[in-house]
Amino acid sequence: MNKKITPYLFGISAAVVTIGVAGVFSAILLPAGEHKSELPVPTSPQQAKAMANALLQSKCADCHGATPAYNGWRNLFSLGQVKRDIEGAQRAFTLEPDGSIRSANIDFLKMDHVLRTRSMPPVLYTMTHPGTDLTPADIDLLRYHYDAKDALRRAFAPIRPANMSSTDHAAYLWGLPEPTTRPDDATMQKAWGKVYLGHRLFHDPRLSTTNEVSCSSCHDLTKGGTDNLPKSEGVPGADGKPQLGGVNAPTVYNAEHNIRQFWDGRAANLQEQAGGPPLNPVEMGYAKPEDWKDIARKLADDPEYRVLFPLVYGEKGITADTITDAIAAFERTLVTPDSAFDRYLMGDDSAMTPQQIKGMQAFMTHGCATCHAGPTLGGQSFEYVNTHGKLRAHAKGYTEGAYGLMDFTKKEQHKDMFRVPNLRNIALTAPYFHTGTVDKLEDAVRIMFETQTRTAPTTTLVADVTAFLQAQTGEYKRIPLDKLTPKDVEPEFVIENMPRRTEEPAKAE
Ligand code: HEC
Ligand code: HEC
Ligand code: HEC
Repeated sequence: MNKKITPYLFGISAAVVTIGVAGVFSAILLPAGEHKSELPVPTSPQQAKAMANALLQSKCADCHGATPAYNGWRNLFSLGQVKRDIEGAQRAFTLEPDGSIRSANIDFLKMDHVLRTRSMPPVLYTMTHPGTDLTPADIDLLRYHYDAKDALRRAFAPIRPANMSSTDHAAYLWGLPEPTTRPDDATMQKAWGKVYLGHRLFHDPRLSTTNEVSCSSCHDLTKGGTDNLPKSEGVPGADGKPQLGGVNAPTVYNAEHNIRQFWDGRAANLQEQAGGPPLNPVEMGYAKPEDWKDIARKLADDPEYRVLFPLVYGEKGITADTITDAIAAFERTLVTPDSAFDRYLMGDDSAMTPQQIKGMQAFMTHGCATCHAGPTLGGQSFEYVNTHGKLRAHAKGYTEGAYGLMDFTKKEQHKDMFRVPNLRNIALTAPYFHTGTVDKLEDAVRIMFETQTRTAPTTTLVADVTAFLQAQTGEYKRIPLDKLTPKDVEPEFVIENMPRRTEEPAKAE
């Protein structure tokens, strides 16, 4: 078997296995009597995998394989169509998955989409390559067998697990012990102490050279976790004016779910990300790793930190590592469950309006969910911003300068691949795109139709999908995100007998 596509097929078989019991495998895959099939009925998952593998090799690998079948003469003869097809195919989907660029679930949804819309292989190809058309039996072999309800389950997940009561959801979500039950428990003090510490650090301007810029300056929790500016304002430059960041600030809410952090993916996770802004000369003004010592010195002036850092980190004290670890722990609590969409997914059919439900269906039918999928409707892959049209041409003021994943990997083939943004709370996080150049959500939706799908956006379609996206506004601390006040997002003690900010502790060290 071809080693290169084996990982992909593992994905297929794993999903098939989760759907059906291995015993009824073949019955599920090839419903009896539904199609005339020339394929033998697979008798084991291994055999089905081998058959699917052979099928992909014979009908898809010419364009999607690791070494596509480029042929100069054929290309000339086809007036360049061969080259265009192969280039387009390699950009959209490869049989050799790269888990660092997209999750297996995304590969899965893309495959499902083309099988449902019967859009692959391209007609021109099947016309010139007899026998490459997908037969119904092929499709059954390649797609996991599911109904519309299952498609919904695969594409999206509520941000809160279904079996959770609403009173203890915070503790569940964050993997933390319930705060009120065992106030003396050391494990619990550490767990909540760390979140509290991270919360304070997130709002602490001492992480900047001017003592004026904090993480929350650009990621305001009352503004959907953003600054609602096209470009963020960092510490002042030589002219005394705030320096502007190069790209729009994404939200910190639900960022934990991202496959990597930043538009170009240069940070692997939240802790690595949190080390970036303080040492960014434009954002918080420091420049070199030794500067963390300066920051630590300033933070050590704070009586509460002098108690909390040892409590949570023991001997380690105040370092780049402990500061960013605490911030990341806090950020993992920035989960926003209970949007109308979550309630709908959890079985409340009346949670979304009929228009929002129509919009959700359109979102799936037209392939938005092949990129914007998972619990946050995005964050799971890096994708070209110009699959079917040039985003730069459609989004006015969409300037050159940032090239997405290429800026991080320095590989030409990653040019214009951006980490798909998460669409949770999207109604609150304008302006849109990494350039921050589109103010209205409906315009962002229209542009996505024009550039990322094969569908011409009608006014109704755009209105329906926009309505669906408005159903994404969730809750933080059980308050709807659009109703949060600055007071609601202040660091909050949850453990009664821990040292408080107002009390100078008896002995600091
Ligand atoms: C002649 C070349 C060619 C062949 C053969 C081909 N494709 Fe494609 N494929 C393309 C091109 C071009 C695109 C991207 C443009 C588009 O989506 O129209 C694409 C896109 C895709 C996508 C991504 C679509 C999306 O919505 O994100 C998937 C998945 C895919 N192909 C699967 C397959 C499968 C499965 C086969 C074999 C049954 C196959 N392709 C055969 C050219 C090809
Ligand atoms: C001056 C404004 C500014 C400050 C201060 C700032 N950020 Fe950001 N943040 C941004 C911008 C702009 C980006 C996008 C940068 C990029 O992708 O290249 C970003 C990206 C992020 C991301 C990635 C989100 C995603 O979807 O990829 C996280 C998480 C984040 N910031 C958290 C923090 C934390 C924690 C701090 C404090 C230590 C902080 N930020 C300080 C502006 C800021
Ligand atoms: C091929 C993958 C892909 C498909 C399909 C896709 N998107 Fe996107 N979407 C992206 C990427 C990548 C971005 C970020 C673009 C940028 O900032 O330059 C994005 C950005 C967005 C944004 C702006 C988010 C923000 O925070 O700025 C919205 C809204 C959006 N998409 C909605 C949709 C809708 C609605 C559809 C279907 C009509 C769709 N997308 C289809 C990849 C995709």
